[in-house]
Amino acid sequence: MALPVVLDVDTGVDDACAILLAALHPALDLRAVTCVGGNADVDAVVANTLTVLDAAGRPDLVVARGAERPLLEEAVDARHVHGLDGMADLDWPKSPRQPVVAHAVEVLRDVLLEAAAYADEEHRVTLVPLAPLTNIALLLRTYPQVAQGIREIVFMGGAAQAGNATASAEFNVFHDPEAAAVVLDACVDLDIAVTMYGLDVFYAPRISRGTAELLVSAGGHGASELAGRLIAFQCERFGSDSATIGDAGAVCAVIEPGAVRRERLPVRVELAGTWSRGRTIVDLRDWGGDLSHDPHGQARSTIDVCLEVDAQRFATLWLDTVSGGMR
Ligand code: BDR
Ligand code: CA
Repeated sequence: MALPVVLDVDTGVDDACAILLAALHPALDLRAVTCVGGNADVDAVVANTLTVLDAAGRPDLVVARGAERPLLEEAVDARHVHGLDGMADLDWPKSPRQPVVAHAVEVLRDVLLEAAAYADEEHRVTLVPLAPLTNIALLLRTYPQVAQGIREIVFMGGAAQAGNATASAEFNVFHDPEAAAVVLDACVDLDIAVTMYGLDVFYAPRISRGTAELLVSAGGHGASELAGRLIAFQCERFGSDSATIGDAGAVCAVIEPGAVRRERLPVRVELAGTWSRGRTIVDLRDWGGDLSHDPHGQARSTIDVCLEVDAQRFATLWLDTVSGGMR
């Protein structure tokens, strides 16, 4: 049986890369794509998401609109990274479709409760948030019973070492730090396994500009052309000969967990800090003496942190899938 997954996205150039992979890879059964404000406002995110699914030939998939803004922070987009429309300003045909009427949190609830109704593990859903965690925080606090339907949460966000939105914080966590803290806290209470796919691995799987041009040459406004144009946009924007598949790496980690070196580590989200708000504080210390004398005590949440990936394997997995080789 294909692995049931749901993506929560802020599409977003690299979210688009992730959606293409999840929609087309035969090992995954993509149940829904829920949207949240982040890289762009939530309406642009919904429009971009529908466009990607049309290009992938998956107009059957449910798309739902979620939170417009973070729990506490004001919304600040990342159009300087992702383009004015949030998805590379490609002048791509817009989808004629609309999202479902239900809110993203209700769609997540329904998909997860349906999975929970089965007694077996196989039907449980892997939840893959690739965006600020606002929808997921609202979901877990409002409908904690969905935990029964969740196999694990694999989220893109945070970092053990570096930041991008600020020198110390990664964009998704920085955008809504309270939501990230709520999700980690709720996952302890609800016994949900969590994997953090953060900036330590995010940039590693890369596609060259030349390969992007080959993908674009497939034409026809399909998955291959879109994938190539998304990579080409990033090469252009960052003045580089290659670009990361970004959020799509988190989906690769779900498909090929063996290609990831991960460690179980205590993680906190910095909610104060002058320069460090939104940082994930990953405790890499291994000497018990330091740990037991820490005046803060142990972090409540211990999760799997991805520290290294087989970047070539992930890049090949993505490329084979979006160019039609896996179907
Ligand atoms: C994350 O922020 C967004 O810009 C990307 O889509 C990714 O989810 C990287 O920090
Ligand atoms: Ca994203």
